[in-house]
Amino acid sequence: MTKKAIILCGGTGSRMFPLTHSVNKQLLPILDKPMFYYPLSLLMLCGIKDFIFIVNKNQEQNFRNTLGDQNDLGIKVRFVAQEKPRGLPDAFLITEKFIKNKSVAMILGDNFFYGNMLSPLIRETFKLKDGCNIYLYPSKKPSSYGVVEFNKKNQIKKIVEKPKKTTSNSIITGLYVFDKNVISFTKLLKPSKRKELEITDLLKIYKSKKKLKAEFLGRGGTWLDTGNIEDFYNTSSFVSAVENRQGLKIACIEEIALKQKWIKKIDIKKALKFYGDCNYSQYLKRLLK
Ligand code: TTP
Repeated sequence: MTKKAIILCGGTGSRMFPLTHSVNKQLLPILDKPMFYYPLSLLMLCGIKDFIFIVNKNQEQNFRNTLGDQNDLGIKVRFVAQEKPRGLPDAFLITEKFIKNKSVAMILGDNFFYGNMLSPLIRETFKLKDGCNIYLYPSKKPSSYGVVEFNKKNQIKKIVEKPKKTTSNSIITGLYVFDKNVISFTKLLKPSKRKELEITDLLKIYKSKKKLKAEFLGRGGTWLDTGNIEDFYNTSSFVSAVENRQGLKIACIEEIALKQKWIKKIDIKKALKFYGDCNYSQYLKRLLK
């Protein structure tokens, strides 16, 4: 069972300039929570308790302050700085000691996943013994993403990065699970024209060994890439619409930890001190009743 996860919170954030000149986008708000709460929540719901955050140099303290050192969630969180954005697979090279020859999940800190069937589905794939699992979502604009094309037998035929033309609308979302070979395969990669290690090149290695599996997240779930301005605002509207309707919060990390029985109600009381008097605290108070 996969027990560890990397949350990628570095990068340039150039699509969100000037907002991200001095702050990592993953600290920006999606409605009332920092962006990274959402991918963190998904993995907590999938049972992961051991996390390493990849952050830009000099940003570690900002993340610590935001998460709150004193805020006990029953999980382990570590931070590692990435010298510069050398691409997604670089994460495996700088976390070699953390991965320690085990399978590992990786999620992009700007990805938003929502839907009640997602965590059971993803959790099941975390049982992976060997190979790599990716998660696909339908898109009307596949040309902006990594796309998976299938043959007539519905097997993965090709992975294409930002294709100008494609017959497929299945795009690769920012969640992956890799087996223990991920580090040795990453070491085979060469930087691309944009001088980054490319995740699609890593996936192609797994594919060449017939070890790449794809899960369809399906249209009933929601996946948004909050790293572009349009989706950034759309995601807040989405969260607001759902939360207002249900009176339940999306990505309340303390609620998830409580549900998983990793913390007790007394820990929520400690969290209240950290959050102070805000809307989020009001929600936490309701959990105590
Ligand atoms: P991207 O959105 O692909 O890149 P970016 O954040 O640099 O943004 P932009 O394209 O607007 O310049 O990155 C996906 C996620 O991975 C995001 O959360 C940032 C993170 N990331 C790293 O942590 N390290 C890296 O080297 C790269 C490229 C991205």
